[in-house]
Amino acid sequence: MNWPKTMLMVSPEYFEVKYSINPHMLDKDGQLNKIDKTKALQQWTGLKSTFETLGMSVEVIPGQEDLPDMVFCANQTFPFTKNGERHILLSEMDSEYRQPEVQFFESWAKNKTYTIHKLNNKPFEGMGDALWNYETNTIFAGYGFRTTPAVYSEIEKIVDQKIITFELKDSRFYHLDTCLAILNKDTAAYVPEAFTQEGLSTLNQNFSNLIAVPLDEAEAALAGNMCTPNGKDIIIQQGALKTNQALNDNGFNVLEVETSEFLKSGGSVFCMKQLLF
Ligand code: ARG
Repeated sequence: MNWPKTMLMVSPEYFEVKYSINPHMLDKDGQLNKIDKTKALQQWTGLKSTFETLGMSVEVIPGQEDLPDMVFCANQTFPFTKNGERHILLSEMDSEYRQPEVQFFESWAKNKTYTIHKLNNKPFEGMGDALWNYETNTIFAGYGFRTTPAVYSEIEKIVDQKIITFELKDSRFYHLDTCLAILNKDTAAYVPEAFTQEGLSTLNQNFSNLIAVPLDEAEAALAGNMCTPNGKDIIIQQGALKTNQALNDNGFNVLEVETSEFLKSGGSVFCMKQLLF
């Protein structure tokens, strides 16, 4: 399997924090975070251009009214290929607020002639929790907050690839993509505090090069939600200085973007796009 060249994003005109389903969505007084819509649009456009600068073509699905989290389009699907054909597995969102998002991805995928798959088990939040290592054809998958472990034996059969699972133990890192970024065949960045002892040893067995993301940057900047579309360039929320240094030391090219409005909902670079086959 090769790194995908196409990216899906959902436009942010209806992005907002209207409810709280993760600890990042509330301010220090326990109130829902307020979004500056103008800034959010600028940041989203900046991220889209950054992907385009790296040679990705970006396809956009329009955001929908009353679906304020739809912009986090890593979550509603899991794209894969099988026998050279393009498939989409549809998610079963954990939160009632987010369940209606999936139908828009289903219609889009039908139009694009993907083979569509649905799950019997639920919940499963797509590439929020199931991450491809595009260089080894392996899936690394988290469970505990948004996804039930029961889905993974079902998904192994549908996708016909091996899945390596991790129990998530810290609600600040409620999706695997907030605490694990797969950077190439042997390298991953991870937030040590988000994993169990067993998870840490599984990481060590699977990656010869592990880059630790410091807890302060993982929490405040969701630095663990960095994204590489090619195994060389890494896009990350601005200001995670220690993480950037470590990535540079490992030979990666770091591109910083501002996603502060989206951090207020518990998402950043990785969640705001879907890599497509
Ligand atoms: N507010 C959204 C939620 O809690 C953020 C999702 C971020 N996505 C991600 N893949 N981490 O569902």
